[in-house]
Amino acid sequence: MTKIAVFISGGGTNLQALIDAINNEYIKEGYIEIVFSNKKEAYGLERAIKSGIKTMFLDPKEFSGRQEYDEYLAGKMNSMNIDLICLAGYMQILTEKFLDKFHGKIMNIHPALLPSFGGPGMYGLNVHKAVIEAGVKITGCTVHFVDKGVDTGPIIIQKCVSVDDNDTPETLQQKVLKYEHQAYPEAVKLFTEGRLKIVGKRVVIS
Ligand code: GAR
Repeated sequence: MTKIAVFISGGGTNLQALIDAINNEYIKEGYIEIVFSNKKEAYGLERAIKSGIKTMFLDPKEFSGRQEYDEYLAGKMNSMNIDLICLAGYMQILTEKFLDKFHGKIMNIHPALLPSFGGPGMYGLNVHKAVIEAGVKITGCTVHFVDKGVDTGPIIIQKCVSVDDNDTPETLQQKVLKYEHQAYPEAVKLFTEGRLKIVGKRVVIS
């Protein structure tokens, strides 16, 4: 069984999609051991508690900086023998040391079709604003493994969503979220079944 940690900073609708997929046995080979947040008020923590999942919050103010924060967090993940870390609206970039320790074991979901509309500053509504400003007709979401760049890691799954003339960043966000809630459980299911292999920049699905 794959032991999963989900990292959040906010509402946690993607977390909820993963919880539901495990509860309805779409994902059979994994379970969420812990939900971690860097924000105390993240609603996702309540979702976890309601589902009987352990939660952890670490206050950034209690650490000298990001290195120390991530080192402590990595120690916690190691002591729990976590196999997979799912970033689900975790609005903090992980330090290189942390990434080295969990190479190939961290996934992220991004609300656009990478490699477009990714990188520093591209999160939440900013992404959908940029999509509309660029005038593209198709957007979507991407689940990818995390590497040392921002939103640059090997892509696992993408889903397309059309951009309509009357879409606003808010309506687009809602449309894309619906597809995120399908894509993330699909990617996690594949991982827990041992069907993902990273080959260079590509992810081969067996
Ligand atoms: C999601 O749309 C996710 O793709 C995005 O934050 C939202 C979190 O929603 N992540 C990023 O923008 C990362 N660059 P949720 O808390 O309801 O799952």
